Amino acid sequence: SGPDAAALVAGRVVDVPDFPKPGIAFKDLTPLFADGPVFREVVDRIVAHHGADSFDVVAGIEARGFVLAAALAYATGTGVVPIRKAGKLPRQTHAASYALEYGEATLEVHQDSFAAGQRVLVVDDVLATGGTAAAALELVERAGGTVSGFTVVMELGFLPGRQRLSPRAVHALLTV
Ligand code: PRP
Repeated sequence: SGPDAAALVAGRVVDVPDFPKPGIAFKDLTPLFADGPVFREVVDRIVAHHGADSFDVVAGIEARGFVLAAALAYATGTGVVPIRKAGKLPRQTHAASYALEYGEATLEVHQDSFAAGQRVLVVDDVLATGGTAAAALELVERAGGTVSGFTVVMELGFLPGRQRLSPRAVHALLTV
């Protein structure tokens, strides 16, 4: 019920050409995060899709995934685990490097982030090439978690992110 996802986010995602590099069209979701009723609706729809009982903890991918992860965790009474860019986490980590649409990057997670078999919902704002997500999902499993789902607000359907993550399911509120 309510507006479809495209109507919900309409006007609250800004296409920024040539950011952070020439040729990249950046999807800026900060206006969506700043709109209280829309942000709440987005979070509620993500919870409804997966089911609040389907995960034990939420892992958010730096940086915009943190915003969503905290809200999802609060809404479901679960906790948050940060998946961070290299060098940010203070204790022993697992690390995974990946090619980004624009360059290369490394993600890390604390080695003791998850109890064995803990069910982890992984969240980010945007799925583009899928490099970030592939690294994040690998890290969750290396740290002992079980990926119960991967969810984004916006999927760029013209890039092969979903195929790259196959056979894992990707839930996107909106595919553009
Ligand atoms: C953006 C976005 C995703 C990732 C998607 O993050 O928030 O994490 O790129 O791209 P991919 O599917 O091609 O890997 P960015 O690297 O800009 O990091 P930030 O959120 O810390 O700014």
